[in-house]
Amino acid sequence: MSGETVLVTGAFGLVGSKVVQTLAASGREVVATDLDMAANRKAAAQLPSGVRVRWADLTDTSAVDALVAEVSPAAIIHLAAIIPPFCYMRRGLARKVNVEATAALLRAAEAQAQRPRFVQASSVAVYGARNPHRITDVLTADTPTNPSDIYGAHKVEAEALVRASTLDWLILRLGGVMSSEFSLDIDVDLISFESVLPADGRLQTVDVRDVADAFAKATTTEDANREVLLIGGDPETHRHTQSAVGSQAAAAMRIRGGLPLGRPGDPASDTAWFATDWMDTTRAQEVLGFQHHSWSQLLADTSANAGWKRLPIGLAAPLIRGFLRSKSAYRDYPGRYADVWNAIAKKWGDPTPDMADA
Ligand SMILES: NC(=O)c1ccc[n+]([C@@H]2O[C@H](COP(=O)([O-])OP(=O)(O)OC[C@H]3O[C@@H](n4cnc5c(N)ncnc54)[C@H](O)[C@@H]3O)[C@@H](O)[C@H]2O)c1
Repeated sequence: MSGETVLVTGAFGLVGSKVVQTLAASGREVVATDLDMAANRKAAAQLPSGVRVRWADLTDTSAVDALVAEVSPAAIIHLAAIIPPFCYMRRGLARKVNVEATAALLRAAEAQAQRPRFVQASSVAVYGARNPHRITDVLTADTPTNPSDIYGAHKVEAEALVRASTLDWLILRLGGVMSSEFSLDIDVDLISFESVLPADGRLQTVDVRDVADAFAKATTTEDANREVLLIGGDPETHRHTQSAVGSQAAAAMRIRGGLPLGRPGDPASDTAWFATDWMDTTRAQEVLGFQHHSWSQLLADTSANAGWKRLPIGLAAPLIRGFLRSKSAYRDYPGRYADVWNAIAKKWGDPTPDMADA
């Protein structure tokens, strides 16, 4: 295979599928890799003809070695991960994928005669809980990491492995990735998870198309190397509260007042907040020039992509509302503030980093 190939892990996930499309559309050679599952095989059949697919479980070190040796990529975009809330349900597996598979990929990449550039997907989760009542700054690449949960702790560990490697690398810490593509196939766990998060917590969204552009450019940019970049949408339109994101995205599909009502966060607590915040994206934008879709554009596209289905959705809104409310994590839950980490522990599993994760 060509030395200019980009290997994309997690290629059939939310971000990965758009990254693969973006690379292919710009004429890059792409090898998409993910788990061999029926849904991924179905999606693989829809890929542009030039994209090659290699199935691999990245927790299998010999499969990782074989994959990297066969593809001999010029760059690796490493997206595969077990994300919240699933990482709380399967802590052991999450560590294997989020940390150990990253180590295996790095080792395999370092063993190549032509060492690929490594672009690592990280997250604002590395910064841990952020109480907007007490915090006056926005996140920068230099804000100290202080993860509150295993997911953030795994990302800190994975970042450390990347930094310690002998490869060229970039780490992209993503904010709240949003897609305007319409799907009724929404995971109930994800809906319920949103309802756990403090309604007034700060979240900077970013359109998945722009995330994909950032990853594609990160494989070739000569303007940055061995640097952490913060990937969020433009600061003028993409800085929101958690509840505004959910309700506006639902309204774009005509589910007015649709998402489960979250609770506000406790202004007096520094820990009972989720690990999201607004971010300074100046440097990332300077290097990667990826911010193309404003929040209003994302909503307009969401609405357009829902198309005629908005009418039946609008009619069914009361039913959808009732269903979603029944999934709210704070139904019959004591107190009046969001109790995010305990609510997560109760519904999905212990989110706290253990000693090995810290
Ligand atoms: N979605 C967001 O808002 C967000 C925010 C911050 C960071 N990120 C990071 O961006 C990356 C992509 O996120 P996403 O939203 O596309 O997640 P996703 O869950 O949609 O995709 C992850 C992919 O990894 C694959 N995967 C899991 N275990 C694997 C294994 N053992 N071997 C091979 N593949 C495996 C899954 O099959 C899936 O296709 C992740 O690293 C995530 O942590 C995402």
